[in-house]
Amino acid sequence: MPPQTLPQPPTAPGLPLIGNALSFRAAHGIPIDFMQKTMRQYGDLVHFKVMHLSFYLVSTPDLVHEVLLKRVNEFHKTGAISTKPIGLGRFLGNGILTADHAEWKPQRKLIQPLMHTKHITQYGETMARFGEQLLSDWQDGSERDIHADMTQVTMWIIAETMFGMNVNQTPAMESAAESAQRITVADLTTPLPDWLTKGRDREATQTNDIMTQLVDDFMAERRTKGETGRHDLLTLLMETRDEDGQPMPDDFVRDNILTLFFAGHETTANTLTWVFYYLAKHPEIEAELQREVDTVLGGRLPTLADLPNLPYTLMVIKETMRIQPTVSAFPRTIVDDLELGGYQLKGGAVVFVSPYILHHDPRWWSDPQTFDPTRFSAENEPNIPKYAYLPFGGGPRICIGNHFSLMESQILLALIASRYTLSLIPGVVVEPLRHITTSPKDGLAMRLHRR
Ligand code: HEM
Repeated sequence: MPPQTLPQPPTAPGLPLIGNALSFRAAHGIPIDFMQKTMRQYGDLVHFKVMHLSFYLVSTPDLVHEVLLKRVNEFHKTGAISTKPIGLGRFLGNGILTADHAEWKPQRKLIQPLMHTKHITQYGETMARFGEQLLSDWQDGSERDIHADMTQVTMWIIAETMFGMNVNQTPAMESAAESAQRITVADLTTPLPDWLTKGRDREATQTNDIMTQLVDDFMAERRTKGETGRHDLLTLLMETRDEDGQPMPDDFVRDNILTLFFAGHETTANTLTWVFYYLAKHPEIEAELQREVDTVLGGRLPTLADLPNLPYTLMVIKETMRIQPTVSAFPRTIVDDLELGGYQLKGGAVVFVSPYILHHDPRWWSDPQTFDPTRFSAENEPNIPKYAYLPFGGGPRICIGNHFSLMESQILLALIASRYTLSLIPGVVVEPLRHITTSPKDGLAMRLHRR
């Protein structure tokens, strides 16, 4: 049937003119509860309006498979949602995460080999070393913000492995990254006509200026030093030549440095933070994990060679990424009017894919609210339906750092669990804040108990 004769998907009821804007605004981030409720009430492909924009949510593995893989050319990363760059594109330009298909492909080809398991194995030692550096500040009985600690250690690791950046150079970048994340979420969840976003635009320009200056100084420093003998991402980007033998433009290098910095630490930091939260809630699972790390490590630092012998550690991480996926939802823009799931969808509208909603659907997971790492045992994992578990996204734009991040999480978790038990502070409520990544709203205060 041609698209124009197909029905429109059900639309969530909303207010005149603003549609569902209030539900979006009330969430102070990605409105997962509203989306999940709407899906349950109106079906697996549902439409909602926020101001002048149309959004769709797709909620079955089959539909998601169509969007992310089978019909990837019809659903773009960027699109005609605004006349100017908004969202992450404001800050990361045409880097690998935000670039659209034609500009993305050569970048993925260039960067992918650096993220190959063969290449990242050299980072194992750095990961354990920074983990140990973090623990040198920990004291038995003290209270710490574990989210801040995980952000710190993952930032040291990404900065050194990808860019050879000194740890003292990271704090300014961290606060710029925080404001970029806040503005991006406002762009996506409180869309306003261009003439109403002047304040947001001004803050974005300031943030961009800070980030550009930091990266430019850093590139200049590297150029002054000349040949470093390093094989990191920054060296690769700076040494790449186009067909005419010309170096890549500074914008290209800068966008990708910012992208990898942005995408490469906050995500893993949040995953590890939630791991400690769920372990504290489930002492029997924590005890099993500690048995494993004690047997394998016997008190020494974890190495890459230990990872295959720490399967339960990895299962705990995977289950955390199921129950609290760091990226709870991500968007695609529909290029032209099209048919999906028997409905007509409008070109220019945004489709949300939500790992959180897929991971909490009882059709694909038994008892989805229960934290149970055995879902990911060698025996059970193959039974998970394809495209029902998407912590790293799917299709050609799947996370390029997935192996890096799992390896980093496994090393840090094994190290920390071998030395400490972490408990929650009684009476402190921990609430998720769903920006681009999901973090605990007010950090995660925990008490340290030296083992
Ligand atoms: C637990 C940790 C992580 C999670 C949950 C995560 C999640 C994701 C997701 C869901 C996407 C797909 C977004 C989309 O399709 O729109 C993505 C893409 C991406 N991630 Fe990650 N990520 C993690 C760690 C990392 C790390 C450590 C790096 C870098 C070292 C990284 C770099 C990237 C890049 C560059 C892309 C864009 C890939 C492309 O479009 O070709 N991520 N990530």
